[in-house]
Amino acid sequence: MYPELQGRVALITGAGRREGLGEAMARRLAEEGCKVVITDVGAAKGEYMPESAVGTGSEMQSIVDEIITAGGDAAAFNCDVLNPAEVAAAANFAVETFGSLDIWVNNAGIGYLMKPIVEMSIDEWDTVLGVNLRGVFLGIQAAARIMIEQGRGGRIINIGSQASKSGFGHASAYTSSKHGIVGLTRVAAMELGEHGITVNTICPNHVTTGLGAWQNSHFSGVTGRDMNQYMADMRARIPLGRPGLQEDIAKACAFLCSDQATYMTAENMNVSGGEEYH
Ligand SMILES: NC(=O)c1ccc[n+]([C@@H]2O[C@H](COP(=O)([O-])OP(=O)(O)OC[C@H]3O[C@@H](n4cnc5c(N)ncnc54)[C@H](O)[C@@H]3O)[C@@H](O)[C@H]2O)c1
Repeated sequence: MYPELQGRVALITGAGRREGLGEAMARRLAEEGCKVVITDVGAAKGEYMPESAVGTGSEMQSIVDEIITAGGDAAAFNCDVLNPAEVAAAANFAVETFGSLDIWVNNAGIGYLMKPIVEMSIDEWDTVLGVNLRGVFLGIQAAARIMIEQGRGGRIINIGSQASKSGFGHASAYTSSKHGIVGLTRVAAMELGEHGITVNTICPNHVTTGLGAWQNSHFSGVTGRDMNQYMADMRARIPLGRPGLQEDIAKACAFLCSDQATYMTAENMNVSGGEEYH
């Protein structure tokens, strides 16, 4: 536990879907004593993001209610990271509701448009890059503007992927967006260091969230393996012998927010059981 996190205000994008990395990070930061703003789209966002794949308003609110029942402090806000006005409004909501903005986690992402390059449409490419990379840019911008004005530093954490470091077939847009976050992290860390704001990215390997379960099913099919074989092959290539858990990512997030990480910035940190090591 990190007592210095008590009372800090943290906003997490894409944190409204049950079993997601965003929910896990929100819960962990709330346990650390942070006041947490859970944001997500709140409703279906068209063909690629049906209600079953997004954090809905009622899911967001139920996570908030559970955090409050457990003694924490939390609030929900609808924010589509494709929309600059909504991202800025979310940042303002955190300040208006809890008095400041100290931690911003760019977690929102989509990984459903998995196709060979020759079959990928421009709209599909734009959708993935829009949510996964432009959305992170907008989050960094909105958070930095407030943190600079507050004048007491801050922490920005992005959720990259193993696809931030390695290439994956059928994932041209996803891999490009997640590689893009690496460069964006480095630039933001350079620009914001003088304000005491650190910017780091966590790069998970596989975690069986709602998105992760869809990817397992999709890629086991694409590679012609049944699910048991697919998961056994996955475990076999991970030195620590298992895929990631939501709590593994939440632990890394809490660490990067803590005073243990005051001299860490511009890092693109693998949390992958050793599967990814560069
Ligand atoms: N699960 C994994 O194996 C894994 C591995 C590496 C990286 N990641 C990354 O972790 C992050 C969280 O993924 P997850 O596995 O928890 O999936 P998830 O589907 O549970 O969570 C993604 C969240 O992003 C939200 N979202 C989608 N489009 C949005 C938009 N336009 N605006 C705001 N929110 C939006 C969804 O509503 C959802 O709540 C993503 O960035 C993903 O790429 C996941």
